[in-house]
Amino acid sequence: MGSVVLLVQLLLLLATMAAICSSFTSALNASYYASTCPDAESIVQTTMERLHYNDPTLAPAIIRMLFHDCFVRGCDASITINPTPHSPSPERTAIPNHTLRGFDAIDAVKQALDSSCHGGTVVSCADTLVLMARESVTLLGGDRYSLALGRRDGVQSNAWEVDLPAPFARLDDVIASFAGKGFTADETVVLFGAHTVGGAHCSSFRYRLTNPDDGTMDEAFCSDLLDTCGVEDQTLDTDPATFFDPDTPFVVDNNYYKQLVGNRTLLQVDQEAATHPATKQYVAYYAASNDVFVQRFSEVMAKLSNVGVLEGDAGEVRKVCSRFNTG
Ligand code: HEM
Repeated sequence: MGSVVLLVQLLLLLATMAAICSSFTSALNASYYASTCPDAESIVQTTMERLHYNDPTLAPAIIRMLFHDCFVRGCDASITINPTPHSPSPERTAIPNHTLRGFDAIDAVKQALDSSCHGGTVVSCADTLVLMARESVTLLGGDRYSLALGRRDGVQSNAWEVDLPAPFARLDDVIASFAGKGFTADETVVLFGAHTVGGAHCSSFRYRLTNPDDGTMDEAFCSDLLDTCGVEDQTLDTDPATFFDPDTPFVVDNNYYKQLVGNRTLLQVDQEAATHPATKQYVAYYAASNDVFVQRFSEVMAKLSNVGVLEGDAGEVRKVCSRFNTG
């Protein structure tokens, strides 16, 4: 009997040691490029500052790009792959990605990195994108957060794997989908707060203006949106777009939650967060405190940057972000 207890204790000890070891074997670390590309972070910072100065709408687009990358196959830059005759339907061609912007900026930052890193291609596209998103948050007035680096780039990208929530998704489903990636309901509400910057095309919410199923939209807000959008569907090139937070569309602040509380938000799924029993307390909490939201947003963006990353020898480090090294 005594030897069985000893054996169980030994097994438990081994399991604990294995768990501790595995938590230390992550290949990601803050000084990953210290010898191969010591200036990587400052190169991303200065290039993003230049790009942002020329186009302030880029930073919100990059924050969105990170979400669309990390929620499909993890943060592996599978989103940046271009279609080719051999592989015509990468993630980028899936419907939720049709309005993504910022691919040229990723190429520009990657080129700046490659031309200064020792030995050319050193920094992965996945790391390039998480660093660009961190700069975007900072440039929009958010808190700067630390990132461990060393992500590898994916070698697969398929439109059929893109399962991002639609603007009219039920919040229960969205909470479940975010939980599947490791986010609590609180963190999900914090990530929704990204909609305090940038904007949306009318096609994402026009149906709410004439037939507000949810019956929640503020009347004056609805009437302004009708003026902007009209009632007719448009093609993407001609469809108007409008800011989520018209007061401060380029500032990471808690205005988005105030919009939610006042029934003045564009997307149906966002609006549902203000009344859903699993999320309404968080919406009220962040609507009441800008400082808490700004801090939480950076914490959860850092967490988003680590979803399902490829490490060690997995995947590859792409030379060009829009195509696999094998062509
Ligand atoms: C249920 C979840 C979500 C849905 C349904 C959703 C949907 C959308 C839609 C429809 C747009 C407008 C796209 C356009 O018309 O151009 C948009 C924009 C945006 N989304 Fe989300 N989103 C979600 C979650 C997130 C998350 C988690 C983030 C980041 C952490 C994010 C960041 C953004 C940003 C920054 C924009 C503005 C982009 C720009 O101005 O170019 N979204 N989202």
